[in-house]
Amino acid sequence: MENFTFYAPTYFAFGRGTEMQTGSLVKRFGGSKVLIHYGGGSVVRSGLLDRVKKSLDEAGIAYVELGGVKPNPRSGLVYEGIDLCKKENVDFVLAVGGGSAIDSSKAIAAGTVYDGDFWDYYEGKPVEKALPIGTVLTIAAAGSEGSPDSVITKEEGMLKRGASGEAYRPKFSILNPELTQTLPPYQTACGVTDIIAHLYERYLTNTKDVETTDRMIEALILAMVNEAPKVIADPNDYEARANIMWAGMMAHNNSCGVGRSQDWTSHGIEHELSALYDCAHGAGLAVTMPAVFTYVTDHDVMRFAQIAVRVWGCQMDFAHPERTAKAGIEALRRFVKSIGMPANFEELGAKEEDIPKLAQTACLGSGKMVGFTELSEKDVENIYRLML
Ligand code: NZQ
Ligand code: ZN
Repeated sequence: MENFTFYAPTYFAFGRGTEMQTGSLVKRFGGSKVLIHYGGGSVVRSGLLDRVKKSLDEAGIAYVELGGVKPNPRSGLVYEGIDLCKKENVDFVLAVGGGSAIDSSKAIAAGTVYDGDFWDYYEGKPVEKALPIGTVLTIAAAGSEGSPDSVITKEEGMLKRGASGEAYRPKFSILNPELTQTLPPYQTACGVTDIIAHLYERYLTNTKDVETTDRMIEALILAMVNEAPKVIADPNDYEARANIMWAGMMAHNNSCGVGRSQDWTSHGIEHELSALYDCAHGAGLAVTMPAVFTYVTDHDVMRFAQIAVRVWGCQMDFAHPERTAKAGIEALRRFVKSIGMPANFEELGAKEEDIPKLAQTACLGSGKMVGFTELSEKDVENIYRLML
């Protein structure tokens, strides 16, 4: 195991009715004037936004609001939010929604206290300063409620890029599984697929002897394989929703990723798909993961064989471990398909003729992607072709 530091001080309020603690939590973490930031209207229709405002009113916290965050959030609304926060002297940003509303809130929180262009952070500058952020989560997926990350798409060139820094870790996150019961099955499945991807990206490591985090990752994937079909069959299954919601947080606050190298090439390759075709991130990952894993299996056959046996229940073929590895990847492919995810480029709405451009943008800057293995632009192009 490698040396590491781990400091993840987000306060979590989990369970039924916890959104009514929003006002007191904003107060506890020093907010007096809040920007409430949300998406395309699901939180208005469900009545959640009204309950959040009531809680802020009861705590005597003033607020302004800005809705309209799109999935795969765009830079244009971030600039609007920054202007609003500066004009209104906002001192706390509250995201009500999913990963997109949270990531847009993080970008606004950083941009408000930075003299330059917030996009600098999405070109590699570490995020060291931001207004405090709180979240009321409505979908278990991105894990942004506990992560120090944010992903934004710059409209000019449709560049989707991430930024990171401890200042991006929310001060508090409210996780009420009931709030996810209004999700359509497709969005629920996209979320589960993203959670599984966050676990696989950490599992694909070159660090030896990381049994504790290996086992944590395996357990969380197994839990998703068990719980996801329950919520697809019954969207109101509170207990299954609760299990998925906590797994989404655990999968991405890095408790399973410390002390080990990680991959993240599936995410990089997927981000080009959701940037260009505006597909859901989880749906893109359902198509991307099996292709990437198939392409890089030879780099460490035994790692893929291990997860095949421990998670997917495959029989170990000691004479031909590559067969076991392949069986595990096929089991993953079958699972994401069984919960309604797309299986190839066509089902995702992606086009073969765009492949060279996708590979080029994915490798922009260095001409390669480095994670579990090093992938050249040609390798990335080959991986996209495996998705046809
Ligand atoms: O916009 P509204 O109307 O709220 O509808 C949303 C949106 O259409 C809807 N939705 C959310 N909660 C709902 C609901 N509909 C009904 N009932 C509810 N309770 O679901 C749709 C998707 O929402 P979104 O916020 O986009 O989903 P998700 O949480 O999957 O976030 C995706 C974004 O997060 C990024 C992705 O790249 C993508 O841009 N990621 C962020 C990460 C991070 N910050 O750590 C890591 C991830 O790997 C990921 O890249
Ligand atoms: Zn993801």
